[in-house]
Amino acid sequence: MKRITVAWGLQTLMAGLIAMGILLSGCSSKPETQAEKEARWASGRLNAFEDENGIGPVSEEVKLGPVDAGLAAQGKAIFVQKCATCHYLDMRKTGPPLRDVTKRRTAAYILNQVQNPEMMGKLHPEGKQLVAQYAQYMTIQGITPEMARQLLEFLRSEAGNPALPVEQQPGFGTPAPAAK
Ligand code: HEC
Repeated sequence: MKRITVAWGLQTLMAGLIAMGILLSGCSSKPETQAEKEARWASGRLNAFEDENGIGPVSEEVKLGPVDAGLAAQGKAIFVQKCATCHYLDMRKTGPPLRDVTKRRTAAYILNQVQNPEMMGKLHPEGKQLVAQYAQYMTIQGITPEMARQLLEFLRSEAGNPALPVEQQPGFGTPAPAAK
């Protein structure tokens, strides 16, 4: 009788320790480093947030207020300078038309796409599909978080507006980059 109690006690203790171990490794582990994150992405293990919102510097949902016209105007200037080589709002250029991109993608997704296009195109399922469809990677560098936010605001301000003829597209006349 006594033996059974001891054995039972030990078993309970072991089960308790194992459960605690699982809890500790699951919940209180240190936040993932950038290198760990990138290794995980490279192995194709994206979490649900990343599936929906892309991979890159933005790892939390972005809360947006009404469109800010000042930010949107700054974003338009950057768009003309840096994006119009490859994108129109209403027709395909090197990349997809972007007028309604804020309707089909989350804000975080767009911020990640603009700041981390290479990994988005190589490692994100949606990005990979677009690269296949357009037979081209999006390449852009030097987009700061602030610029990305302004670009997002410009795209938000254009969503749902009527399509324009090609010669009225922002940045019309900017030559497409040479194919690589
Ligand atoms: C060298 C050409 C090139 C430049 C420059 C470029 N893009 Fe792209 N972009 C692409 C291509 C090609 C794709 C589709 C393949 C991919 O996603 O990589 C794309 C995809 C995107 C997408 C995703 C669209 C979707 O439906 O998911 C967004 C958003 C975008 N670009 C925004 C921008 C913005 C904003 C800029 C300027 C900062 C920019 N791009 C500059 C070529 C370019």
